[in-house]
Amino acid sequence: MKERLQQLQQEALEKIEQANDLKALNDVRVAYLGKKGPITEVLRGMGALSPEERPLMGALVNDVREAIQRALEAKQATLEQEEVEKKLASEAIDVTLPGRPIRRGNHHPLTRVIEEIEDLFIGMGYTIAEGPEVEKDYYNFEALNLPKGHPARDMQDSFYITEEILLRTHTSPVQARTMEKHQGRGPVKIICPGKVYRRDNDDATHSHQFTQIEGLVVDENIRMSDLKGTLREFARKMFGEDRDIRFRPSFFPFTEPSVEVDVSCFNCGGHGCNVCKGTGWIEILGAGMVHPNVLEMAGFDSKKYTGFAFGMGPERIAMLKYGIDDIRHFYQNDVRFLQQFHRV
Ligand code: DAH
Repeated sequence: MKERLQQLQQEALEKIEQANDLKALNDVRVAYLGKKGPITEVLRGMGALSPEERPLMGALVNDVREAIQRALEAKQATLEQEEVEKKLASEAIDVTLPGRPIRRGNHHPLTRVIEEIEDLFIGMGYTIAEGPEVEKDYYNFEALNLPKGHPARDMQDSFYITEEILLRTHTSPVQARTMEKHQGRGPVKIICPGKVYRRDNDDATHSHQFTQIEGLVVDENIRMSDLKGTLREFARKMFGEDRDIRFRPSFFPFTEPSVEVDVSCFNCGGHGCNVCKGTGWIEILGAGMVHPNVLEMAGFDSKKYTGFAFGMGPERIAMLKYGIDDIRHFYQNDVRFLQQFHRV
């Protein structure tokens, strides 16, 4: 019996030694110390022993069990430690590896130009006003001194939805809407950015949908020189401190007098080149003094109040500023184009 026990101990210790994971180790525990294991069996056979032998054998069985138990515990500790180490090794992060740059998006070039222009005018005390893209004929035309049948309506081919409702052809209706809200009291000092629509065939310089920024100032004693000073400031901030501007007489039904505004060529400085087609000047926007009819229709006393207005196309400004040769680039969303406007 004694040999049997020693042999069992020997066997168990070897198997414990060989167990290379926690499951195998547990199998050994169940096999040797479990209720159906060989040691339990030996204990059952003790009834056959003499009273003298029994305590000795009992002590021996206990020793064997304890030895196996200790070996199991030691091995378990080792295996657990190994497992932790394996896990740590597999989860290790090499903090010395160089980082992978995250590709960031950027603002669309038009958004960028619009925001730049907004910032510039906000800096001069303007606020931003907006209006609907689906607009009433009244605000788009009539309130701007373009009654039904007026020939100048043909300058802006329109998408009509009903007789009285259309997609706005310019941002000028926001002038009329804003003045109306002011109920005849100045000052009004706004710029209005937004999308506009015209029935045009798309080509390098035309698009059926594009953007505009409108400006309007109404107060007592607003003069044409205020318009000129404002636009010169704008041109210098947008195109360079050395720029100058000039007014050429023009016609818009909602302004009187009306002007077209040129900026001295930022490419050649005014000597004449292919950008300014040899003239030294580049047209950038339309402007004028708000027509008394427009003021009156919006509820302003045109004897007390005067104002100036201007309208420009951010596409045109962006094309000039960045040398873009086709307006369609703005709308095609080709990332090779868009990525060139990445702000660093
Ligand atoms: N609304 C005009 C257009 O789309 C642009 C314009 C010209 C706006 C003169 C103005 C202005 O406010 O005074 O062609």
